Amino acid sequence: MTEVGAGAATPDTLRVQMVADLRARGAITSPEVESAFLKVPRHLFAPEVTAEEVYQAPEGIFIKYNPQGRPVSSVSAPWLHAQMLEAAQVEPGMAVLEIGSGGCNAALLAELVGDQTLVTTVDIDPDITARARKLLAEAGYGQVRVEEADGARPLRDPPPHGFDRIIVTVGASDLPTAWTDQLAPNGRLVVPLRFRGLSRTIAFTREQGHLRSDTLIISGFVAMQGDSAYAPRTVRLAGQDVRLVVDEGQPAEAEALTEAFTGPRHEEWTGVELGGSERILPRLEVWLAGATAPYGRLRATQAATDRGLVGWVLSRGMPAVWNRHSLAYLALRRVAQTTPERYELGVIAHGPGREHLAAHLTDAVRRFDREARNAGDPVVRAYHRHDHEVPAGVTVDKPSVRLTIT
Ligand SMILES: C[S@@+](CC[C@H](N)C(=O)[O-])C[C@H]1O[C@@H](n2cnc3c(N)ncnc32)[C@H](O)[C@@H]1O
Repeated sequence: MTEVGAGAATPDTLRVQMVADLRARGAITSPEVESAFLKVPRHLFAPEVTAEEVYQAPEGIFIKYNPQGRPVSSVSAPWLHAQMLEAAQVEPGMAVLEIGSGGCNAALLAELVGDQTLVTTVDIDPDITARARKLLAEAGYGQVRVEEADGARPLRDPPPHGFDRIIVTVGASDLPTAWTDQLAPNGRLVVPLRFRGLSRTIAFTREQGHLRSDTLIISGFVAMQGDSAYAPRTVRLAGQDVRLVVDEGQPAEAEALTEAFTGPRHEEWTGVELGGSERILPRLEVWLAGATAPYGRLRATQAATDRGLVGWVLSRGMPAVWNRHSLAYLALRRVAQTTPERYELGVIAHGPGREHLAAHLTDAVRRFDREARNAGDPVVRAYHRHDHEVPAGVTVDKPSVRLTIT
């Protein structure tokens, strides 16, 4: 192993340091993933930037933008590659399908399975497959199979028993049938899924005819193109400053909600407190998606908070509920004189039904606090739309699957 010492940092020393950091922050937990990370020369998969940027950048590196300037392809962040690979539990000899190709993750997968020919990576974009093919070959992984295809569709020539692991590395808003059809009976599907305005990379296994999650990772990805592309719907409540993100075609009357938002507000504080380092809010956000509908996210700029248009909300958005004429969202306030800092969750509501809606959301938060706060991550189950087995209650309906969250 290369030693980290004095002198100019080489890609090898930078990589050793990166792996040590990933281990220290808990992104790498297994010796197998650690060993793969030490072997794969990550910098060769991002020749557009320096080795320092590759190994020291906490986030991904964008490599292609669409004509509107939105990123459509990237080499994902090291911590995200690591957490997804840990969640995938890849073992030697497994057949693996990666959807979305950058080259780097496919090389890591090749190290984990121990045979490059067992790894297939597909990308919808011919520029990206050409780039991945070239970089994989240059880095010594030329036997990885790189295919240009819409990953939402069944692949040509899948292994007869299916793929042991399918790892989707692009933001999906559905679980196309092709993925479950191509997944081996004991397979694991790892996929960044968007639902109700949230993005979570979810590891699923099969359970009695449906999929069941066992890992949720907070993550953001470039959006899927092709058959499974989606267009999120946003209702502007105050120009660009305050928006309600409405997913999955949920009903939302833009005019009535905008009018409600300009009217009086009602506040209710829940008594439910969070510590700054507790990761309770991400768990609550997902849990609420299975407990109440319609449900989405209120996003506001800092300027909107500063002008008092909204309560104190996080920049990535806060849970929101609404009905025909009213809406309510969660906000935070600092609990005085606590070290470390603690925050209380509250509800701010607008519209003629504001008190009722605020009580509804407050009750849900308190129920979470009593029943689910300390129960680990919520469990997401995905049932194919043609199944009859779907339990009653709040569901999140996608084109191919119906999700329950408990
Ligand atoms: C975040 S990048 C992949 C990162 C990569 N796996 C790595 O090693 O870091 C996402 C990729 O998904 C691709 N993509 C988007 N929609 C797709 C689809 N329907 N099928 C296959 N690939 C798709 C994009 O072209 C983009 O290159």
